[in-house]
Amino acid sequence: MIQTQVIPLKEYNTFHIDVTALYSFFCETEQDIFEILNTDIVKEKNILVLGGCSNMLFTQDVDDVVIFMRNKGIEIISETAENVFVKVSAGEVWDEFVEYCVSNNFGGIENLSLIPGTTGASPVQNIGAYGVEVKDVIFETEAIEILTGKKRIFNNKECNFAYRNSIFKEELKNKYIVLNVTFRLSKFPVLKLSYGNLISEIIHENSTIKDVRDAVIRIRESKLPNTDILPNAGSFFKNPIISNEHFTKLIKQFPQLVSYPAEDGKIKLAAGQLIDLCGWKGKKENGVGVHDKQALVIINYGNAAGKSILQFSEKIQNSVFKKFGVNIDREVRVYP
Ligand code: EPU
Repeated sequence: MIQTQVIPLKEYNTFHIDVTALYSFFCETEQDIFEILNTDIVKEKNILVLGGCSNMLFTQDVDDVVIFMRNKGIEIISETAENVFVKVSAGEVWDEFVEYCVSNNFGGIENLSLIPGTTGASPVQNIGAYGVEVKDVIFETEAIEILTGKKRIFNNKECNFAYRNSIFKEELKNKYIVLNVTFRLSKFPVLKLSYGNLISEIIHENSTIKDVRDAVIRIRESKLPNTDILPNAGSFFKNPIISNEHFTKLIKQFPQLVSYPAEDGKIKLAAGQLIDLCGWKGKKENGVGVHDKQALVIINYGNAAGKSILQFSEKIQNSVFKKFGVNIDREVRVYP
C-alpha cells in the first residue's frame, strides 16, 4: 500500500479539476483496505473511494480520506454449458475487462466498450450504453462495510439496480467499499443491436461481439470527447423520466422529441436533445462549454474551477426547465 500526504488530484479526475487531497491511499490488495480501516484517521474522517474518477466534479479540496482502488485480478470461478462466471477485482480498468471478454468470446458487455473508469464503479453506477446496462450481467458484488470491516456479498437483486443507480448510491451510500464483481457472461453471445445506429454500423452477416465492440468504439469516439484532450465526465446529466400526461402535452408542442418507454408507463426523454434545443450545443463561457457533438457533455476547456462548472450546469438545468418544464438531474457526482 502506498500512502501519501497531500496529493494533487488534477491528473486523477477526468474533468482535470485542480484540487488536492489531504489523505490518500492506493490500495493494491484487500489487506491494504483492512489496514486503512484500522487507522485512526479513518475514525475521524469520511472515506471517499475513487476508481477512474471519471464521473466526479470536485468543487473544493478534499478533506476526506481518499482510497484509490488499484486491486487487480480477473478469474473464471465457474462455468456451465451456457455461461462463464468471471470474478473481477474492483481496481481493474473497465475497458480492459471488456477487451478480455471480447477476445475470449464471452458475450454480454461488448456494448459497454470504452466506458471510462474501473470495474468497482460499474455496479455502483449501473453503467449503461447502447441498449445494455451492466445489471443485466452482474451476478454478485462483494463489498466491505466501512464501519465494521466485515465482508458482504450482494446478489443481483440485493444491489437494487435502476437506471444509473443502485443500493450503493442510495441506502448504503458511503457505507461499503466494492472489492470485486462477479459477472455471468454467455459462451454463445447473442448480439444486442437494437440501439439506433448500432445496426447500421454492423453491416455484414455473421457479425461477432468483436464487430459490436469495434462499432461501439467508433460511435463513442465520434460523439464523446477524449478526456485527455477535452476534460469531461461523460454524460453530465441523466435522461429525465416524465409522466405520460406531461409527455402528451410536450410532444404536441415539440414533435421532434426523442422518447423511450420507462417503468410504470412513464417516458424517458433524451436530456442531450433538450439541451441542444435550448441552443447550448457548442456554447462556451469562461473556459467551460457544451460539447459540439453531444450536448450532454460539459467540457473544461481551460483551467475552470469546479464551482464555475457547477454554476454553468445549473444555467443549463434552468433553461431546460424554462422551455420544457422538465428537471434534468446530474449524473455526475459533485464533491462535497
Ligand atoms: N441528441 C440530440 N442532441 C444532442 C445529443 C443527443 O438531439 O446533442 C439526441 C440524439 O440524436 C438521439 C438522442 O438524443 O436521438 C439520444 O442521444 P444518444 O444516442 O447520443 O444517447 P444519450 O441518451 O444522449 C445515453 C447515455 C450515454 C450512452 C448513450 C449510448 C445517459 C445519461 N447517457 O446518452 O452514457 O453512452 O446513451 O447508449 O443515459 C454516460 O453515462 O456517461 C454516457 C455517455
